[in-house]
Amino acid sequence: EYPKFVKIVEVGPRDGLQNEKEIVPTRVKIELIDMLSATGLSVIEATSFVSSKWVPQMADHTDVLQGIQRAPNVRYPVLTPNMQGFQDAIAAGATEVAVFGSASETFSRRNINCSIDESMLRFEEVINAAKEQQIPVRGYVSCALGCPYEGCIEPPKVAEVAKRMYEMGCYEISLGDTIGVGTPGSMFKMLQKVMKDVPVDALAVHCHDTYGQALPNILTALQMGVSVVDSAVAGLGGCPYAQGSTGNVSTEDVLYMLHGMGIQTGVNLNKVIEAGDCICNALGRQTNSRVAQAKGRT
Ligand code: HMG
Ligand code: MG
Repeated sequence: EYPKFVKIVEVGPRDGLQNEKEIVPTRVKIELIDMLSATGLSVIEATSFVSSKWVPQMADHTDVLQGIQRAPNVRYPVLTPNMQGFQDAIAAGATEVAVFGSASETFSRRNINCSIDESMLRFEEVINAAKEQQIPVRGYVSCALGCPYEGCIEPPKVAEVAKRMYEMGCYEISLGDTIGVGTPGSMFKMLQKVMKDVPVDALAVHCHDTYGQALPNILTALQMGVSVVDSAVAGLGGCPYAQGSTGNVSTEDVLYMLHGMGIQTGVNLNKVIEAGDCICNALGRQTNSRVAQAKGRT
């Protein structure tokens, strides 16, 4: 049985734009987020408080966070890998943050320059500081269905990292198919294992669409009771430390599937398509959303 309502976590302004080679003007980012804020989305990941040497595209994090018009019913989490990121985020006015770990040792080192164990210590510090200020913390587990360096990642490793982050106090764990290599088969096996350690209500799936498997993978997760799905408007994106990873599954395509199944999201598909048009125009890029393409967008 499918969930009746699915929460969409829009990650386009962060996961989508972080991989753009040309620096996207801050006002374009702000306009994108403001348009998304009017679609009915309840969560929009706005930016990352990471090192601008590592990810130059996110260097304008403070201006983005301070430039947007925050809608009353929308949350705007930002990525914070360590205490410096957390403090900068709070100083910029963040009211929700996310820490991001990995089920792959090599990916952890390449992405955040530390081992999985070290990352857990850093996250614990961030989570404890966040608790004091009643700031909710979301947690990501990257490479949940495969790693660009190590290949196959075994479900027990994913479950172990997810459990540690959940027990530290992350209210939701987003399982990332960072490079989009999963299939419904590997999604099923991974979730079956993780759900033994983390309640399904606290799980989200975060699918990249590199191999065209994102929608079937999401459908598999829904069948297993997951009711939170990460996606990016226009299917923007990719991870700068995961070679070959293309965009996230597009929000438009996820909405089309969910609404077609009678599952509510509270999000207006046409308004998301308009926001997608706008950012694709600004980037001089065709949309990756099949739904937007089918509706005549280019
Ligand atoms: P580091 O170099 O190991 O950090 O970077 P450090 O503590 O050794 O400090 C070195 C320098 O960095 C110092 O500056 C610090 O101040 C500075 P210096 O003294 O040399 O001038 N620094 C920072 N500056 C700004 N913000 C900070 C910060 N921390 C230290 N927060 C760090 C460690 C994590 C910062 C670095 O590796 C980094 O920024 N990595 C980028 C990670 C990233 O953004 N990856 C993409 C997002 S993850 C993703 O896309 C996957 C996901 O979508 C899920 C999925 O798809 O699976 C979430
Ligand atoms: Mg991602």
